[in-house]
This record gives sequence, C-alpha cells and structure tokens, in this order.
Amino acid sequence: MSEASDLEQRFEDKIAADERIEPKDWMPDAYRKNLIRQMSQHAHSEVIGMQPEGNWLTRAPTLERKSVLLAKIQDEAGHGLYLYSATETLGVTREELVAALHEGRAKYASIFNYPSLTWADIGAIGWLVDGAAIVNQISLQRTSYGPYARAMVRICKEESFHQRQGYQIMVRLAEGSEAQKQMAQDALNRWWWPSLMMFGPHDGESAHSAQSMLWKIKRMSNDDGRQKFVDQTVPQADIIDLTVPDPDLKWNEARGHYDFGEINWDEFMQVISGNGPCNRQRLGQHKKAHEEGAWVREAMAAYAKRKAETAHD
Ligand code: 3HC
Repeated sequence: MSEASDLEQRFEDKIAADERIEPKDWMPDAYRKNLIRQMSQHAHSEVIGMQPEGNWLTRAPTLERKSVLLAKIQDEAGHGLYLYSATETLGVTREELVAALHEGRAKYASIFNYPSLTWADIGAIGWLVDGAAIVNQISLQRTSYGPYARAMVRICKEESFHQRQGYQIMVRLAEGSEAQKQMAQDALNRWWWPSLMMFGPHDGESAHSAQSMLWKIKRMSNDDGRQKFVDQTVPQADIIDLTVPDPDLKWNEARGHYDFGEINWDEFMQVISGNGPCNRQRLGQHKKAHEEGAWVREAMAAYAKRKAETAHD
C-alpha cells in the first residue's frame, strides 16, 4: 500500500472508530477545507450575532435585564474566540479568516441579518435563536475534529443560560399587559421562520451534508435538527399562549412530531447571498470595528515581539 493511501486508511479507520482527529493528525485537504469553512462561519456568526443584541444594551428595561444581556453578549464574544482559535489549529490565520468574511468569501448565520426592533426581540433571540443553536451545537459536541468538539462542550454550557434568559423575557411579556403580549407575539411572528432557516437547506439540497456526515463533522442532518427544534419549541409557545405563525403546524401522532409549513427558501437564498434586511449594516459595523481596533492588535503584537526579544536578555 502506498504511503498516501496508508495515511488515508488510518484517517478513515479513526473516523469509523469515532476517534477524534487532532491538529497534528494527517487529514485529507478536503476535510481540512470543509472544517475551516464551517468553523470560521460559526465563529463569524457568534461575533456578528452580538450586534442585534448590542443594539438593546442601552435600552434594557431594568438594570437586571441590562446586566444579563451584557453577560450574554460577552459570552458570545468568548464563543467567537474559542471557535477562531479552534479554526486556527487547521493552519489558517485570524487575519485570513476575517478577510474572507469582509470580502464576502465566508458566510455567517442568516438569522443575524434581521433587525431587533423591540425589547421582545431580545427575548425571541435568546429563546429561538439560541434555542436553535443549542440543538445544533449539542450534536456538534460529537464532531470528529477534536478542537471543535471541545469548544462545543464549553459553548453549550453557556448557551442554555442564553436560551433560558430569552424565554424568561417572553414569559414576562406574555403575562404582562395586552401591549406587552402583543410585542412578544410580534417578535415570535418575525423570528420564527428565520430561526428554522438556521439549520440550513433541506438535506436533499445541502451541498455539504453528505460528505460532512461521512466524515462525522456533522452528526445530525439539517432537517433532523430543525424537526427537533420545532418539537421542543412549540410546546413552550403554547405554555405562554403565543401562536406560532404557521397555519400548517399540526401535531402528527403517527410520526410523533409536528408537521409544519414550507420555509421561504427564496428569502433564505436572498439573505445568505447578502441581500437580507441588515446584511450591509452588519458587515459594515464589523469592518468599522475591525479598523478602529487595529491599534489594539498592533500594540499587542509589538508587546509580544518586545517580550520575545527581551526574554533572552
Ligand atoms: N446561514 C448562512 N449560511 C447558511 C446557513 C445559514 N443559516 N445554512 C446553510 N448555509 C450555507 C452553508 O454555509 C453553505 O454555504 P457555503 O458552502 O458557502 O459554506 C450552503 O448554505 C449550503 O448549506 P449546507 O447545509 O450544505 O452547509 P453545512 O453543511 O455547512 O450546514 C449548518 C449548515 C447546519 C449551519 C452548518 O454549517 C453548521 O452546523 N454550522 C455550525 C453552527 C453554526 O454556524 N451556527 C450559527 C449560529 S451561531 C449562533 O447562533 C450563536 C448563538 O450563540 C446565538
């Protein structure tokens, strides 16, 4: 057997045995490339996802809500950090990853291209967006690439707090005045379908799923994740007497799942192609913050260089 096919075989054997692939292990270039794509987009999503919530920091209704929201936003920044660091173990630099985002060669989660119009949106984001992220990320704790799986374990611990604080906001509004309940219903109406889109296209339309499942990068299909999210979330809406905006939503006893309506895939394609309600704003804000933060990066690099030079004095 040639050396190359021997390496390939060893890689396949590790995947088959559910062993983790580590940075120093040999891996097919396509495996590495797929991981850089997905992990960097995951990291970009965490960082850009801070924007819609950050818009409400100065307008939180109480000091307690403000500190909870601040804690959540700081967590998201940390999630981005873990994921960028895990991606860099694949031999790519942070600068390259950020350039790909700024030049439109890398995506981030479609959901963050929608505006956060009222305080109830902060509840809906925690409840639905973090709720959907948890479904996806719990399965990613079993992903075959070691650094990604370990980052997920840490992130999932914090995500459950994110989902709970969001749902708690929705409970308080739904139990409040008629106007507050209407605000919560309006947020559910606007965030429900974009949350279902977070799981990606139907399995049959997914460009990467088949190979990602074979390599155990992806441990749950897009449609299975979406179904799991719907099944767990609809009862939560029922409990607070909010109506999921889907006339086709119905419990299917035979399937043991909810049947639900068709997603607007044209909208999805528009949003992931850069034509969503807030794409330009989100990317513009990220570029501006990156430029304004250049002096911090330069100072850190100069400090590190100086430290390395004087380490031998
Ligand atoms: N938003 C943007 N792009 C999406 C998308 C979405 N919701 N769903 C799919 N896409 C893109 C894919 O990136 C791919 O495009 P590319 O080839 O340019 O990368 C294309 O649509 C085809 O989709 P696939 O299903 O073939 O792609 P994947 O196999 O990568 O599956 C995914 C999509 C399920 C989102 C997968 O990438 C994944 O699990 N990513 C990690 C989880 C993640 O990124 N979550 C984002 C939310 S993070 C978050 O919510 C933070 C929380 O704390 C609030």
